[in-house]
Amino acid sequence: MMRPFMRCIDVNSEQCPCLLSDTNHCFMCSQLKGEAVCNCDWTGQCILHEKRWKAPRKPSDAPCRREVESTLVIKRQVNEHTYIVETEVGLELAEQLNKIGSFIFMRRVDDPEMCNFPVGIMNVKRGTLTMAIETIGPKSSRLFMPLEARVLLRGPYLNGVFGQPWIDSTKYGTILAAVGGLGQSNALMLAKAILANGNKATFVIAPGQAGSIFVADELQAMGVEVISVSSMRREGFAKLQELFSDKVDLLLSAGPDDLHNGLIATMHESGYNFPMAVTNNATMCCGEGICGSCAKKTKDGVWIRTCKVQLDFNQLENSH
Ligand SMILES: Cc1cc2nc3c(=O)[nH]c(=O)nc-3n(C[C@H](O)[C@H](O)[C@H](O)COP(=O)(O)OP(=O)(O)OC[C@H]3O[C@@H](n4cnc5c(N)ncnc54)[C@H](O)[C@@H]3O)c2cc1C
Ligand code: FES
Repeated sequence: MMRPFMRCIDVNSEQCPCLLSDTNHCFMCSQLKGEAVCNCDWTGQCILHEKRWKAPRKPSDAPCRREVESTLVIKRQVNEHTYIVETEVGLELAEQLNKIGSFIFMRRVDDPEMCNFPVGIMNVKRGTLTMAIETIGPKSSRLFMPLEARVLLRGPYLNGVFGQPWIDSTKYGTILAAVGGLGQSNALMLAKAILANGNKATFVIAPGQAGSIFVADELQAMGVEVISVSSMRREGFAKLQELFSDKVDLLLSAGPDDLHNGLIATMHESGYNFPMAVTNNATMCCGEGICGSCAKKTKDGVWIRTCKVQLDFNQLENSH
């Protein structure tokens, strides 16, 4: 039975209690929301206790993520607008980013802070990050002027995948994934996590807007069964429908929200309702629950900041 859940991705991390707790906007702790009594169901370290322990605190002393300067090295050009890049950030930050859903905010070193934009971590090897970047608008396009630019990377941020508790709790099971376009940049980290839990993994991958499948060899070398299709809508969903009749413990969707919604519709049409984890495609500016650019409404009418809140994609108003 799938139960709705909501928790802060940063709870009990070195970022917690964050700035939101100063103004009664922590959504985990009832008392740090301004209520008189404790009625949270969090079983970890008490956020209110941590807050009082660390008080008084000046806003400038609030926890902040590391910012690292590095050079972007282009390893491969996937299409006219998409590059696979590597950059060296040191062992500590790289290790913190070696998780599903991890991302950083990045900008060119001489650009103002408003140019920061989120980029997911495709792979981590020792102190080196691999990322796939599509130059789609003003912020991402600035990165490659000049081609191998000096950049600032701020992180770690960890809420790039919704439904992470399903991934953590699925062990020795069968996991199916639909992966489309630039969503491929999430595939290696997802595969690492699910294979480490002894699961069997089948990934159906379509080139989408990226125009090519660029993770198949690495996934196969890790032990993932890869089924490449020319189009998810025309070919991939039918393939997945066939695979639904085998035992499936978890469904993953890595790509745009249209892919998530198409997959949910296909699953429901086939009479199934598997737990799902999907990539988070919100527009993000701060990553700290402050600016509001990533806010989305749940089906219960509650506005949440999706850079901080970990939930099931199905709980969001506009999900299928
Ligand atoms: C958690 C997370 C991880 C991401 N990882 C990557 C990555 O690994 N590589 C990469 O190239 N991009 C990634 N993105 C998307 C990237 O951050 C946006 O494309 C970028 O902010 C666009 O900025 P821009 O100024 O270049 O374009 P804008 O002018 O801001 O946007 C151009 C177009 O892209 C759309 N767009 C904006 N944000 C997103 C988004 N989050 N998802 C899909 N479309 C969007 C806009 O609606 C618009 O149509 C990620 C986004 C998030 C939230
Ligand atoms: S990105 Fe600023 S509140 Fe989420």
